[in-house]
Amino acid sequence: MLKRTLISACTAAFIGLSGAALAGGHGEKPEANPWTNFALQNTLNKMPAGNAANGKELSDQWMCAACHGETGKSPSRNYASINGMPKEYTIKMMLDYRDGRRWENYKQANIMVKLAQSMNDQEIADLAAFYAEQPLTNWTDSTDVDPKIDRLVRKGDVNRMITPCASCHGVHGEGHGVVPSLAGQVPEYFVRTMKAYQDGQRHNDVNQGMSQFTHDLTDEEIQGLADYYAAMPAVKE
Ligand code: HEC
Ligand code: HEC
Repeated sequence: MLKRTLISACTAAFIGLSGAALAGGHGEKPEANPWTNFALQNTLNKMPAGNAANGKELSDQWMCAACHGETGKSPSRNYASINGMPKEYTIKMMLDYRDGRRWENYKQANIMVKLAQSMNDQEIADLAAFYAEQPLTNWTDSTDVDPKIDRLVRKGDVNRMITPCASCHGVHGEGHGVVPSLAGQVPEYFVRTMKAYQDGQRHNDVNQGMSQFTHDLTDEEIQGLADYYAAMPAVKE
């Protein structure tokens, strides 16, 4: 009975939220200061420890699966996959949505902003612990590797001051700490978010620690990188 009440309450909340997202009205945007490494580390250190089993329950209650899939592997090309994300990254994203740091392409971020604003730190930590436990999965089965893209990932490009993606995101795209995993990421989301970094709509990264590498990438390279990571095998170190 309690469960049913919870579910219908959540369904109502969900429909309400989707309605708001569709209407596309701009809510109040909280004004958080940009992160410094120090402030971010301090905030992460103060987060409560997450409980993955509670996180699973919360993900059911909040219907995260409707968009991100049961385990965080998105069933749709519209949404990001969040399975196997390091917990610190998921925590940071939820805080960034909650506090107005991540607000790019408002219609896309709207639902996440609303969800995050109704969560406390414990719930965020629990959800992050749950998704961090889910194995990474490849999105496509392609085995073609474009050598130019492979080079960009492993060696970067000195002329354009592009640091190898793998040096931060890991050789298997597994991510670490606040650096997200990229293996198996939905390519449409990957492209969208890279372009949002490129044109400055997404600026929640600390000291432009990510966006600086996107400025000189061509559209073709961004697509190539998206395809490269989408095919990455499900290796989690
Ligand atoms: C109605 C669809 C929808 C629901 C429900 C939803 N999300 Fe999202 N989520 C999105 C979209 C769309 C994005 C990408 C937004 C953007 O581009 O800024 C996103 C992004 C995210 C991200 C950032 C992903 C990344 O790789 O940076 C996290 C983390 C996340 N969602 C967690 C959750 C959690 C946890 C729940 C449940 C509490 C949830 N989402 C429910 C649609 C949804
Ligand atoms: C110096 C370390 C570093 C390098 C090099 C780097 N990244 Fe990142 N990347 C990050 C960090 C940190 C984030 C998370 C930023 C934030 O908080 O929004 C990130 C985020 C991303 C995201 C967003 C993922 C998501 O789920 O929303 C993508 C896509 C990405 N990087 C791709 C790349 C690619 C492709 C390259 C190589 C061309 C690259 N990165 C090079 C550190 C790096």
